[in-house]
Amino acid sequence: MIHDLGTRYPNAIGHDNQEAEPMPIEECGNLFILPAAYVRAIGDTDWTSQYMDVFQKYTNYLVDNGIDIANQLLSNDAAEPLANETNLAIKAAVGLKAFGEMSGYGFYSRVGEQHANIFFQEGLGTNKDQTHFVLEYPDWPDTWKTPYNLFPDVLLGLDTFTDAA
Ligand SMILES: *[C@@H]1O[C@H](CO)[C@@H](O)[C@H](O)[C@H]1NC(C)=O
Repeated sequence: MIHDLGTRYPNAIGHDNQEAEPMPIEECGNLFILPAAYVRAIGDTDWTSQYMDVFQKYTNYLVDNGIDIANQLLSNDAAEPLANETNLAIKAAVGLKAFGEMSGYGFYSRVGEQHANIFFQEGLGTNKDQTHFVLEYPDWPDTWKTPYNLFPDVLLGLDTFTDAA
């Protein structure tokens, strides 16, 4: 999953060495948030429907890898690669819900909501008193993270996470 357009803007041909920074969870989540926003804005699914098979392969990646998250970079790439970074788990959950809405496949919406439930209501991604999200789980209860990946959930009204989150 490509991270950016590359170094030859305005030609979106990637990087000369074909190596973008690897951020698989972050970019898979974005892959569904952006078209979901597009469908909302344009009001039809003509464009997105032609890519459903491809989209679904990436969504399945989030189903399989959105909880036990391998060590990897995130958009906040001043941070080192981290395993089980809470904000990435949020991105995965929101991405699943975005795909569920865009495709009409309720299975993915339900998995996204289940992930949100695990990370917020059940507290895997929060401190003990559930007053804030932690940087990493499950062994870093004293850390903090601004969960900015909740923003597209609110912006698009996907309601993956409850308002309390
Ligand atoms: C990541 O979280 C999952 C679920 O809690 C856990 O099974 C796994 O051991 C964690 N991985 C690391 C590297 O802490």
